[in-house]
Amino acid sequence: MSKPFIVVSDGMDKGLFNDLCKIDQLNVHPEAKISQESLKNLLPDVEGLIIRSATNVTKELIDSAPKLRYVIRAGEGTDNIDKAYCKEKGIKVSNTPGANNNSAGEHAVALMLTVLRKTAWANQSMKEGKWEKAAFTGNELWKKTVGIVGFGRIGQIVAKRISGFETNTLFFDPLVSRSTSTATKVDKLEDLFSQSDIISIHVPLIEATKNIVNENLLSKMKPTGILINAARGKIVDEQALYQVLKEKKIRGAGFDVFASEPLENNSPLRELQNIVLTPHLGGSTQEAQFRVGEMAIHQVKEFFLNSNLLNEVRH
Ligand code: MLT
Repeated sequence: MSKPFIVVSDGMDKGLFNDLCKIDQLNVHPEAKISQESLKNLLPDVEGLIIRSATNVTKELIDSAPKLRYVIRAGEGTDNIDKAYCKEKGIKVSNTPGANNNSAGEHAVALMLTVLRKTAWANQSMKEGKWEKAAFTGNELWKKTVGIVGFGRIGQIVAKRISGFETNTLFFDPLVSRSTSTATKVDKLEDLFSQSDIISIHVPLIEATKNIVNENLLSKMKPTGILINAARGKIVDEQALYQVLKEKKIRGAGFDVFASEPLENNSPLRELQNIVLTPHLGGSTQEAQFRVGEMAIHQVKEFFLNSNLLNEVRH
């Protein structure tokens, strides 16, 4: 019997990838990071595909991969996978729940502090040979009201990590029934937006969350408010965000994710002074990449060698 052909397309921890390649019963493509162009050539034979956020498992990709049986998202969000079409074709989908959540949460906190203390702008100015102490007076995170949209694993990590700053933390999440020791439940998203000094988004991208942060919600923010998004770009109406930032209706924003990634070179967001941008780095730490890689390898082995499907994502 031929060995299942496995492709890792968006990179993996080097040591782990070597371990994966050594598994006798699997035929692993020898490169761990493959351009979307080269991936096309491998699709006719691929049976197991391990991806991060760069590969979009679209209808077109699936139709070019007739032997594909299993897609593993080495990470959390599966919005880059057409799960309905996978289901139709009998292709199983898994993610690696929890494995990179701490990194994503820490990145949101880093963005909060960056915007509050203006360190990104101060760094830029220093590199330009200046010493503009007065221009970069910031604000503390200590005792601020922080509103968390979505109180799942990552939202809860953020609440825990910032509790050391003695914040008054609120959360909005219809799926969580009551307040916790780290955050107070708010029933209306509008209230969370109007009461918070800093708002951090931590919901997955699904039909119901697309553009939930729209012009109306943004208009409820304090003029000193800061919006952080390290979840998914399409949760925020980017045009409305651009407008409130351009008109300085809020203090600033820190964004790691965008409606279209990579963010277009000429995106108007790049021209704004009051937003800090990072290129979807939430899960990009060595620790997180090790954990997601470890889980993905375990899952691919279980599936192909033991017919055991772990961490299935259906919707
Ligand atoms: C995820 O969904 O796992 C995060 O956005 C991190 C990533 O994909 O790099």
